[in-house]
Amino acid sequence: MKKIAVVWSSPNLDGLTASAKNQYIKGLEAAGAEVTEIHLNRKKLEHCRACGNGWGTCNKTGACVLPDDFGDIYQTLADADGIVWISAVYWSDMTEAFKAFFDRLRRCDATQNHFLRDKRCILMACAGGTGRGTLECLTQLERGLTHMGMRTLDRISIIRYNKDLILPMLESAGTRYIDALENGFDMYY
Ligand SMILES: Cc1cc2nc3c(=O)[nH]c(=O)nc-3n(C[C@H](O)[C@H](O)[C@H](O)COP(=O)(O)O)c2cc1C
Repeated sequence: MKKIAVVWSSPNLDGLTASAKNQYIKGLEAAGAEVTEIHLNRKKLEHCRACGNGWGTCNKTGACVLPDDFGDIYQTLADADGIVWISAVYWSDMTEAFKAFFDRLRRCDATQNHFLRDKRCILMACAGGTGRGTLECLTQLERGLTHMGMRTLDRISIIRYNKDLILPMLESAGTRYIDALENGFDMYY
């Protein structure tokens, strides 16, 4: 059974981001996956302090000095077979909660631990405005994942103009992701 962590961020429990997340999880569970949801807005997450001269103690230890929910979430991600990252689009970027978590994760993982290297991921950006911001949001997310050595299987842009079409499709997309993780797939970077 594949263990999948679904990391998502939006303050709204019934918005576009939550709908996308719920649809995708339906597909993951239909394929027999064990899903752990991580709703970043409900977690206690400080922002990176850039300790010391800016490189931080995490550069040497791989652990963040801040005593909040970061460590437990990091462990869940390290234990997962696959990770789905879903953010609402704010200012053509991921949400503030997402950014705070992602910055700290990159520092621990990319510079020291490499627990997340080679994880195969899915990215989703959900926007209610023009929708153009999903591209930049997805690019930013992928840049961080690449720093950590993770790989993106698919990048999905969900906007108010395509949601009627895309939301129903996300269920089968979730099932296909598990199939890909189980049966392997080529990935050229
Ligand atoms: C602070 C803020 C910034 C936003 N910036 C953008 C943006 O740059 N591009 C866009 O298409 N939508 C933008 N939006 C709209 C959100 O993407 C939209 O509300 C989306 O539905 C959020 O997901 P939710 O339904 O899960 O809350 C912004 C919304 C907020 C609150």
